[in-house]
This record gives sequence, C-alpha cells and structure tokens, in this order.
Amino acid sequence: MGEDRVGDIVPDPGIEEAAAAAGVRRSAPLVRERTGGDDELDRSLRPQRLADFIAQDQVTEQLGIFIEAARRRGEPLDHVLLAGPPGLGKTSLAHIIATELEVPLVQTAAPALERKADIAAFLTALEPGSVFFIDEIHRLNPAIEETLYPAMEDRRLPVVLGQGAGARTVTLDLPPFTLVGATTRAGLLSKPLHDRFGLTHRLEHYEPADLARIVARSASILGVEIEPGGELAIAERSRGTPRVANRLLKRVRDFAEVRAAGVITEEIALEALSMLEVDRAGLDRHDRLILETIATKFGGGPVGLSTLCAAIDEEPDTIEEVYEPYLLQQGLIKRTPRGRVLTERGFAHLGLPVPEGAATLF
Ligand SMILES: Nc1ncnc2c1ncn2[C@@H]1O[C@H](COP(=O)(O)OP(=O)(O)O)[C@@H](O)[C@H]1O
Ligand SMILES: [Mg+2]
Repeated sequence: MGEDRVGDIVPDPGIEEAAAAAGVRRSAPLVRERTGGDDELDRSLRPQRLADFIAQDQVTEQLGIFIEAARRRGEPLDHVLLAGPPGLGKTSLAHIIATELEVPLVQTAAPALERKADIAAFLTALEPGSVFFIDEIHRLNPAIEETLYPAMEDRRLPVVLGQGAGARTVTLDLPPFTLVGATTRAGLLSKPLHDRFGLTHRLEHYEPADLARIVARSASILGVEIEPGGELAIAERSRGTPRVANRLLKRVRDFAEVRAAGVITEEIALEALSMLEVDRAGLDRHDRLILETIATKFGGGPVGLSTLCAAIDEEPDTIEEVYEPYLLQQGLIKRTPRGRVLTERGFAHLGLPVPEGAATLF
C-alpha cells in the first residue's frame, strides 16, 4: 500500500484487479466516507491508539486484552460490533483496532454495498489479517448479509459465475480478516448477523468530566489555549458526545480569537456558547424547535414521528438517530405507543406551563 499509513482509509487499486479476476463486477464505489462537514475535524482529532481513547474504560480494557491475545497467537481478532449513538467514537475505535493489530484497514459503509459483487470485491482483495470496517451495518440488504455469513464464519465466499443455464457456483477461500461493524441502531441488526460477531461493544454517552478531558486533548492538538473552566463549560453543553464537544471547541476558538486574544476562559466559553444559541442543557436551536413544535403545535403530544417530521421539515432517520436519543436521555420527551410526548421537564425547559389535559399528565 505504498505511503499509506496503517489505519488510513485505503482505496486499494488491487481491489479492482482481484474483483475482475474473481469474475465480479461492482456497481458502487469501493470506498465511501461519511459525508458531512465534521469529517475533516473528526479525522484530525481522532485518537490513534487505545491509550488515547478517553473514557469507555470497559470497552478499551476488553478490546486491549483481546487484541493482545490475537496478536500473540498471530490470529485475526474476532469480528467486532460497535454500537452506539453518532459521534461517540465508533469509527475511531475501528481505526484504532487496525492500528493496534498493525494491519491495514479497509472501510466502506452498508449503503455503498448494493450487490453481492460489491462485497465480494472487497473480501477477495483483503490483505491477510486486515480489518474490514463496515459503517452503518444495520443498513445492509439481506442478499449482502447472506454473503457475509459464510465469509464471517469460515472465510468462504460462494460466487456465481456466468448467467442463466450456464451459471455455476464456485467457492472462494478468503484470507483471514476481522470484520468491524458500526451501527447507531443495533436493534435493527438481524439476529443471525448479530450472532456472528464474537465481540459486541456498546458505547455510552460521556460524562462531562471525560468530555472535558477530550476538549483539553483536542485543544492541545489544535494549538488552542484553554482554561479548565472553559473545558468544563464546553463539556457540559456537549450532549455527552465527543464530536459535539470538538465542534463547539472549534467555534468557541473562533470567538476567542476575535474577542479575547485567543484564550478560552470560562467566561469566554459561556459567552460564545450563548451566541451559538447552545443552552445550558446543550440543546441547540434545532432541539428546541422539536420541543417547541410538540408543545405548541401538538399540545404536548402524543404526535407520531412522521407528523412531527413534516412539521419541522426533517428526515425521520435524523430525528430518531441524531436528535431524539439525547432528548429522551435528558427526560425532555418520552416515546409512547401513540407517539412522542413532551414531559413536564420538557415544558419546564421551554419555560412553558404544562397545559391542562396534556398527555404528559396521565
Ligand atoms: N473516546 C474518545 N477520546 C477522544 N476523542 C474521541 C473519543 N471518541 C470520539 N472522539 C472524537 O470524536 C470524533 C467523532 O468520533 P467518531 O469515531 O467519528 O464517532 P462515530 O463513528 O461513533 O460517529 C472523533 O474524531 C474524535 O475526535
Ligand atoms: Mg462513524
């Protein structure tokens, strides 16, 4: 792989060749990266080794032991499933696993795998021992999942050659590899797929003290001067999420540079955050719009997801995966069989009285 560093995203031209040799055609890009403005920031601040990965001690301790054991035996690590809300470190951990194992990492995302040939192209081109990282693995289509089962279990890949009456199936032997799957929705994984992961780790939201350490680490990488009060002010408004903490840090830095000679004190951080409309619970304008819509347009709920989405012009997936987990965790909304309901706490957060007859009172 030439100049590529271990753990980099590797668009390997060899994949194309091997795919052609194996008689597979592909219809999707071989490497797909997360889209969205945070990509660049994510990459530059991503922890490289297990020791740099802050908090989630149980996860890092267990992974450390299994990685060490696999290395000593010279065997690939068991397949690993990483579950948890966005921005908590799943992609970082996938890269770290490859780095610690000292093997290449090849990365894709489930929506890029449209046909069996797409996944076959990846699997047949893996260097022995590689980490194969599939992001958003709950979105695999069933045909691709079925291709993965024998590949994960005993490194076999049945490939159909030719078409119609002349078609025949050959079984290719695959090199040893570790599949790392990441998902924000572990509950959507089929049981057979879930069962084929030897290791499953769930990342939880971070405590403010841990986020403050992450802010401190990121600030030092970005060359920003920050005081402990500034670290904590950002940490407490980061919704338990490192990606949010890094994003806020970057914006607060801009503010500090223009207004305060670049040093992020507690006062500057609070001033910047209020300018950014991030409130004391870490809710931004968008979160508040969701709460306000349930409160005012739907009398506190219950309101169905699709109705709510139409009212605020947002995708159901985004609401469910990005916004709701934190609002639920904070007890600001509740999910009921009949839809979303604003809680007393939710009304209080908006500074509104609970209307008479609101669903939340029953
Ligand atoms: N435990 C951690 N320690 C330090 N930084 C972290 C940690 N977890 C996440 N981050 C930061 O948050 C960013 C987003 O993490 P990422 O791995 O992309 O999350 P996910 O894939 O779960 O959405 C990373 O770039 C990294 O800077
Ligand atoms: Mg990710």
